[in-house]
Amino acid sequence: MKLVTAVVRPERVQQVKEALFQAGISGITLSRVSGHGGEQEVVEHYRGTRVMVEFRDKVEFRMAVSEPFVQAAIDAICRGARTGEVGDGKIFVQNLDRVVRIRTGEEDSAALTPVTEKKLTPSF
Ligand SMILES: Nc1ncnc2c1ncn2[C@@H]1O[C@H](COP(=O)(O)OP(=O)(O)OP(=O)(O)O)[C@@H](O)[C@H]1O
Ligand SMILES: [Mg+2]
Repeated sequence: MKLVTAVVRPERVQQVKEALFQAGISGITLSRVSGHGGEQEVVEHYRGTRVMVEFRDKVEFRMAVSEPFVQAAIDAICRGARTGEVGDGKIFVQNLDRVVRIRTGEEDSAALTPVTEKKLTPSF
């Protein structure tokens, strides 16, 4: 199991959501965050030049997925989030030791939301 975290542009959230649901991934946590991705803005001042480190609004997706869905999640995020411009975001993949579904006590793969059954068409 992996924990996939992706930081994306807020204006691409809808496309990322749709791409993830199309890939069969439906257990997702989403947070508004502030991020800095290395871009530096050089501002001229009367006493010299300063580098501004700006934090921009971003949205973070987090999803726990079983191994067969890791690449599908990455592909879906890239498909939904990519504009080709600097600042499209980043994906972090971490090993995940344990998952527990609180309602049933199921653990690990059994605790992850079933990802292959697509009986309904979700609407966003
Ligand atoms: N090394 C990092 N650690 C933690 N968060 C990061 C890191 N790099 C980027 N982020 C997060 O991702 C957001 C988007 O980063 P960004 O798209 O600028 O990444 P990048 O690697 O600089 O790519 P690009 O060259 O397209 O700008 C940042 O605002 C920040 O929230
Ligand atoms: Mg950057």
